[in-house]
Formats: sequence, C-alpha cells, structure tokens
Amino acid sequence: MKARRSVRMGGKPRLLGGKLAAVRLPIRTRRLILRAPVTSDVESVYRALRDETMGRFVSGRPRPYTRVHATDFVSGARRKMRRGEMLNLIGVDARTGELSVAVGLYNLNWKDRHGEIGYWVPRRLWGQGLATEAVIAVCAEVFRHTNVHRIEATVEVDNEASARVLTKAGFVKEGTRRHAHLHGTSWTDADLYALLNEGSLAPSGTVLGNRSGRNRVLKVKKVVAGVRTSPP
Ligand SMILES: CC(C)(COP(=O)(O)OP(=O)(O)OC[C@H]1O[C@@H](n2cnc3c(N)ncnc32)[C@H](O)[C@@H]1OP(=O)(O)O)[C@@H](O)C(=O)NCCC(=O)NCCS
Repeated sequence: MKARRSVRMGGKPRLLGGKLAAVRLPIRTRRLILRAPVTSDVESVYRALRDETMGRFVSGRPRPYTRVHATDFVSGARRKMRRGEMLNLIGVDARTGELSVAVGLYNLNWKDRHGEIGYWVPRRLWGQGLATEAVIAVCAEVFRHTNVHRIEATVEVDNEASARVLTKAGFVKEGTRRHAHLHGTSWTDADLYALLNEGSLAPSGTVLGNRSGRNRVLKVKKVVAGVRTSPP
C-alpha cells in the first residue's frame, strides 16, 4: 500500500519514489533540462557510451557497449527511480533537445544520509562546462528537497577533468582509496571527494556546521546562483 502510494498520485505514475519523491523534475539550468530517461534516449545513450575513451571512466559500463545495454540503462533507471533507489537523470540541451549529460545519485544510505554522484558527457561536448552545471544543479536540488547531508564522488587519479568538475562544484578531496578499481589485471587508485550540506538539520534537530562550513556553503551558493532550478 505504502509503495503504491509512492508510485502513484492522482492516478498519474510518479517518476520518483521513496525519499527521492520530493525532488522536482525536471531540473532546469541555464542550458540544460535534467529529466528521467525515456525510450527515445536509447540511441543517444548508446552512441555516447560505446565510445571507449569516454567509457573507460564510467563505472560498471559493460564492454563492448551495445544497444541492449543502453535499453537496459533507460528501463533500469526508470524502475530504480520509481522505487526511490537512485536518481538517474539525462540532461538535454534546453534549445535543441540533444542529450548533453547524464548524472546519477546512487548508493543512497538514508541512515547516514549520504549518496554517491556519477556523471558523463558525450565526448564531442566536453569542455563546455556541462558536467559542472549539471552536478551543481542536481546536488542543490537533492540538498534542498531531501535530507541527504553528504554527496560523495570517487574519481580515478588520472581523471583530471572529473576532479576539476568536482572542485568547481565545491567538493573537497578527502583522500585516496588505494587499488579502488580493477581494470583487467591492473589496479588503479581513486580519489574520494565529498560535498556537505552544512546548513541541514541533524536528526536531533541540531543545526550542523561551523564557521568554515558556513564559508563553504556560501561558496557553493555563489556557484549555484548561476543555475535556475525548476519552480515548485
Ligand atoms: C569528466 C567529464 C564528465 C567532464 O565533462 P565536461 O562537461 O567536459 O566538464 P566541464 O567542462 O564542466 O569541466 C571540465 C574541466 O576539466 C578540465 N579538463 C579537461 N580535461 C582535462 C585534463 N586532461 N587535465 C586537466 N583538466 C582537464 C577542463 O578544462 C575544465 O576545467 P575548466 O573549466 O577549469 O577549464 C567528461 O570528461 C566525461 O564524460 N568523462 C568520461 C566519464 C567520466 O569520467 N565521468 C566521471 C566519473 S568520476
């Protein structure tokens, strides 16, 4: 009964269930509309992720990447979002509708109130600030509408573009996870980054954050100011 309520409201199927249901979709930024993937995205997802250069850093991506994998990505994303297990958004160009970025929030832990973010941009669109714009907007919306307090990202040490995205979005590097990923027979280290929602309430009702925390929140808000999110 409870699960049914999280999926349907007024007879209309909901895209997001569980504790993610409060996040309003689509999320709009200056250049992007971030929304749930639909069947017509399959071909664009396939074309982006079959690129081996770009796919190397996408965790869990099957090799070789086929249209069946892209179809599973879209249907799996919708199913998991309805269950409130993860957020898996496609960002399309607000003017042309072209697939421009994908952003996911997964490994959600509602007890300790954290999740992990991942993202990719089709290779021909790299270097235009699209990943940063999408990451900032998604983190802002998740912090605004859920009680998630910490968003983490794990970045292979040679993925400098991704590390730069996180730094621009206000994430702080916390350390290095040695041998975090196995590629064939070789291990790679990965850096752990995190963004905290310093202004959120602890379960006890205590306001978290200290002086340096407030400064960081201000810094993030300044960046977020350039991002227009969807109205309530
Ligand atoms: C990482 C990725 C999402 C970045 O997307 P993007 O839209 O190009 O990112 P942005 O334009 O917002 O920012 C990229 C930044 O990295 C910088 N950069 C790009 N390549 C770099 C490199 N080899 N070394 C150092 N910096 C680099 C860019 O100059 C830019 O920084 P700047 O704005 O200060 O100039 C994209 O490269 C991608 O899809 N990679 C494959 C998947 C992936 O790695 N996902 C993340 C897994 S953790």
